[in-house]
Amino acid sequence: MPRKFLQLVGSCLLFLIVSNSIFAQKKSLAQKVDSVLHLMTLDEKIGQLNQYNDDHVATGPITLDNDKIGQIKRGQVGSLLNCVGVARTRSWQKVAMQSRLKIPLLFGQDVVHGYKTTFPIPLGEAASWDLEAIQQSARVAATEASASGLHWTFAPMVDISRDPRWGRVMEGAGEDPYLGSLIAAARVKGFQGNHLGDLNAVMACVKHFAAYGAAVGGRDYNSVDMSDRMLWETYLPPFKAALDAGAATFMNSFNDLNGVPATGNAYLQRTILKGKWGFKGFVVSDWGSIGEMINHGNVKDGYEAALSAITAGSDMDMESRNYKNSLAKLVTDKKVSIAIIDDAVRRVLLKKFELGLFDDPFKYCNEEREKAALNNPEHVRIARTVAAKSIVLLKNENNVLPLSKNTKTIAFIGPLVKAVKQNKGFWDVEVPGVDSEHIVSQWQGLQNKVGATSTILYAKGCEIEGDDKSGFAEAIEVAKQSDVVILSIGERRDMTGEAKSRANIGIPGVQEDLLKELLTTGKPVVVLINTGRPLVFNYTADHATAILYTWWLGSEAGNAIADVLFGDVNPSAKLPMSFPVSVGQIPIYYSHFNTGRPATDDKNRIYNSSYNDLSIFPKYEFGYGKSYTNFEYSKLLLSKKKIKQTESIEVSVTISNTGKYDGDEVVQLYLRDRVGSIVRPVEELKDFKKIFLKSGESKTIQFKIDKQKLSFYNQQLNWVAEPGDFDLMVGSSSRDIRLKDSFELIQ
Ligand code: NOJ
Repeated sequence: MPRKFLQLVGSCLLFLIVSNSIFAQKKSLAQKVDSVLHLMTLDEKIGQLNQYNDDHVATGPITLDNDKIGQIKRGQVGSLLNCVGVARTRSWQKVAMQSRLKIPLLFGQDVVHGYKTTFPIPLGEAASWDLEAIQQSARVAATEASASGLHWTFAPMVDISRDPRWGRVMEGAGEDPYLGSLIAAARVKGFQGNHLGDLNAVMACVKHFAAYGAAVGGRDYNSVDMSDRMLWETYLPPFKAALDAGAATFMNSFNDLNGVPATGNAYLQRTILKGKWGFKGFVVSDWGSIGEMINHGNVKDGYEAALSAITAGSDMDMESRNYKNSLAKLVTDKKVSIAIIDDAVRRVLLKKFELGLFDDPFKYCNEEREKAALNNPEHVRIARTVAAKSIVLLKNENNVLPLSKNTKTIAFIGPLVKAVKQNKGFWDVEVPGVDSEHIVSQWQGLQNKVGATSTILYAKGCEIEGDDKSGFAEAIEVAKQSDVVILSIGERRDMTGEAKSRANIGIPGVQEDLLKELLTTGKPVVVLINTGRPLVFNYTADHATAILYTWWLGSEAGNAIADVLFGDVNPSAKLPMSFPVSVGQIPIYYSHFNTGRPATDDKNRIYNSSYNDLSIFPKYEFGYGKSYTNFEYSKLLLSKKKIKQTESIEVSVTISNTGKYDGDEVVQLYLRDRVGSIVRPVEELKDFKKIFLKSGESKTIQFKIDKQKLSFYNQQLNWVAEPGDFDLMVGSSSRDIRLKDSFELIQ
């Protein structure tokens, strides 16, 4: 028999054996779930659908419950949140082991941007456009969290948002569905590692399903009114990408969507998520969101709230206690079938099996492992790298940056210079027993870098908020004695985050006044802006000598900032959101429609879609960010100018580093579909590549354009590519388009 044939038979057999064993494994997991389910009383089943807050920290309005222990012993609780650390999780798990069926508890926590080692806030990390770095950051967080007894993180938040008034923009990846989808998938892969059940993996929880980021007026928890098409085209893609990356769980959201609260929204959870998308994991409500449907005015009481949520596909009740109080009665009243309850319970039990908790409920409880993971120097090193990659250089007049390490005297001024905890950003996990938090302040970072060679002078100047200018004089004095001033200003870390919407998003207090005064000394002033959102800071933008947007960078903030200030790292980050000139421009995003009377900034043109008193353009656009070096774009080549639906185009472009420094460039590819049955945006990001070029080096990079990149949701919500002409733009930001071409899609 020919050898090739034998090889083929051999590989077919191997495939059959492997796929059979995968099937057997899956089957046996489902059988195991059912074998537990068959033993459960209705009360115990409902117990699996309850999640309670541990007593010491709260991330929502707390419900006092003095019989938590008793309920866990009776098998009436399936999961706890805000319970971290091996010692604490073990002690609660021991209580669960006293229940009749000994079903282990799941421990969930908002591990949003790191655990003990804190990483940049997610919006900042998104600015790196570095998917590997983002995945690595989630990997470190998962390694630490799982070693500390946790099974589950309530992350990633993948809500698209185009409104910086909304405090939770800090938690997502910004305004764009393409970038947002890639980042969502990277984060899920990072959290869940190779395999759920590995000791260093935690379940991801993709949130908030859905459209939470479009809250009217940027006011947290507010309503969302949105067309189905917009939902599918812009807001759902990151959720789908996270699901495709294997996300174990989803969280629904506080908002109503077109009048139906997301928590009780069957279209979102049953039709889309569990139906069309075939999601096999479970959905947890947001904190109290089942009960909040009463406030929404969508249900009359807790009984109706529980009915609405379970029917719509919310499997687990976080903290509202309406499942606990009403599900049993709903079953007896025949309003909810036992099949619906069983389906929800099966989903929860399946994850507990996948995590290996039935084999060993204390699997993630090992103090030694916890100690080692939380003190791993490699995690700190990664945090520093990711933090430096997240810093955006917005301005660099006269190439004042990078600073020379031989600068004689530096004035380091501002209310955030010596702040320590502020650098952590909003979502901060307090790990019990870990009192030596590792956070490098900006002051310390500068000392570490040039403390031995430069004199560094300090003045606080003012507070973050308030109108006290009494510290200005000292700050000016210090500035006068120096060669360069670094001014660290911005928000407090708790000014962006959940329930932190702001109607005015300027730099608070008198901080910009301080800048104004410092500039009178004639010294170059480098401004560091610390925040979780795009702020409006026109004075600073127009007058500062240089600006680094530093977000909240986490544990290694100080070192990372110093790395960039002194050129050990050449900044390469690009904004993941448009930065408005004024709150009046919000919502502002690059991928808008052209309108029938296209906007211009030409004041002589009347009757067009622009503001009479303001530019229509953002202060800094999506994709913007400078480098210490210069990149030139040339030789844009398309392999074809006409393609059929089944074909693709290879696009190549050459990028040259023509400046003095080595550096990374994010090369961005945008498309415009000139004519569509639904009008298409003026440009849409469809691909990008982050490449490293040594000074003087050139590289040619390739992109591939296929049908997928040309498609959109038509009026019938079908995903189609319509024949016609497309513009192709390659550039360094959504406005800084360097090269253009076009092609045609034919039938
Ligand atoms: C409410 C927030 O919306 C959600 O994102 C978070 O996971 C829960 N609280 C738990 O803290």
